[in-house]
Amino acid sequence: MSKSTSSFICSSCGTAHKKWQGRCEGCGAWNSIVEEAPLSSGPKALGAKGRTIALTDLATEEAPPPRAGSGIAELDRVLGGGLVPASAILVGGDPGIGKSTLLLQAAASFATSGLKCLYISGEEASAQVRMRAQRLGLTTAPVGLGAETNLRDILTTLDAERPDLAVIDSIQTMWLDTVEAAPGSVSQVRAAAHELVTFAKKRGVAIILVGHVTKEGQIAGPRVVEHMVDTVLYFEGERGHQFRILRAVKNRFGPADEIGVFEMTGGGLAEVTNPSALFLSSRDTPAPGSAVFAGIEGTRPVLTEIQALVAPSTLASPRRTVVGLDSGRVSTILAVLESRCGIPFAGLDVFLNVAGGLRVSEPAADLAVAGALLSAREDVAIPPDMVLFGEISLSGALRPVGQTENRLKEASKLGFQQATVPSRSKTGGGEGMKLREMSDLTAFVGEMFGAG
Ligand code: TYD
Ligand code: MG
Repeated sequence: MSKSTSSFICSSCGTAHKKWQGRCEGCGAWNSIVEEAPLSSGPKALGAKGRTIALTDLATEEAPPPRAGSGIAELDRVLGGGLVPASAILVGGDPGIGKSTLLLQAAASFATSGLKCLYISGEEASAQVRMRAQRLGLTTAPVGLGAETNLRDILTTLDAERPDLAVIDSIQTMWLDTVEAAPGSVSQVRAAAHELVTFAKKRGVAIILVGHVTKEGQIAGPRVVEHMVDTVLYFEGERGHQFRILRAVKNRFGPADEIGVFEMTGGGLAEVTNPSALFLSSRDTPAPGSAVFAGIEGTRPVLTEIQALVAPSTLASPRRTVVGLDSGRVSTILAVLESRCGIPFAGLDVFLNVAGGLRVSEPAADLAVAGALLSAREDVAIPPDMVLFGEISLSGALRPVGQTENRLKEASKLGFQQATVPSRSKTGGGEGMKLREMSDLTAFVGEMFGAG
């Protein structure tokens, strides 16, 4: 018989190890491994009598989940069209980014539209939450407010109140008296999330959990919470910027990768219904090193400005500083420019940035990145009324990307008059726009910058 031993779990990725060690083999994080007590009830010997599960067929008619709109359109879209009853949602983000503000506004909004909502804060006293509500002008919304960290009491209250929605702010402050570990530890967070998610499913209460994110960008202790819930949303933004982006990274009831854009104002978070205008608003006169990318975020086209700076380097291995883009992708583009088009970047520092703090992960941004890099290097401005998009292959060919029509339509709506796109793109939707179709990067370099 094997004796029950405790296991060692990485608090950031959840990998199990046989013994304690300084560095996790799964994700490489240091000092993230903690000891966990084994589950008290071991598996019964196989062959023990279980219960037979009722099976149905796939054709069983099931109505799509009824959804409740909050009235905050940016939030409803990220949720996939509104809140699904009995679903569990995790909202992660850096401390201070505005999670509590967003969820208090959301709770008030859902409550005003007729749902019974509870807001349980484990971080702030009721008086502090009330002060925030006053500042946000939400004092009249019928939200039940509680300040508690003991999950047993919270679950008893939820059971008695039977709300439609409960916000738990935050999961790291909650603790179960059955688990012998400090609040915020992996075992507590995991057990508390498990209790809450199970409760949500069993009692038909939608639950929103707030989770703080560690420096490494993971929901602190542990990733496991992400697997338990139906929907994972990240609230992101740069501290210096007023923009905040709510991004769905997982959604069982809607498309992932959908974004909602907000602006942090003195009176709370305001919706930004036209993000393209916002992300381009800081653009002034045409300058070398700037290219406008017509991208797609979730189901919505969003125009962003990609900025590049190229300067002689004094370092043996020049800098490649990339913000808002995948740096591996940028290295690939630099390599293609060098070996396919004969434009070297050796000996040059390269800085790339997406304006407004947005993160762009589409390969369709390749052409705009190349455009910004070339424009900075050659000191030639790209026409200010031009958008670019297209994927660059390793051979230097340009590949058409999806949703060309939507991209062109959005660009045209915002007053752009020219677009550089890969040849063979389906260019409906770009009526009235001058299209330059290019088959490869060399042609693009020749036409735009007269170099090769
Ligand atoms: P908060 O929602 O407390 O962040 P989190 O719950 O993610 O830790 O947001 C705190 C920040 O938001 C704080 O720096 C102040 C700012 N803020 C405003 O700018 N305007 C407002 O109306 C409110 C309520 C907060
Ligand atoms: Mg908070």
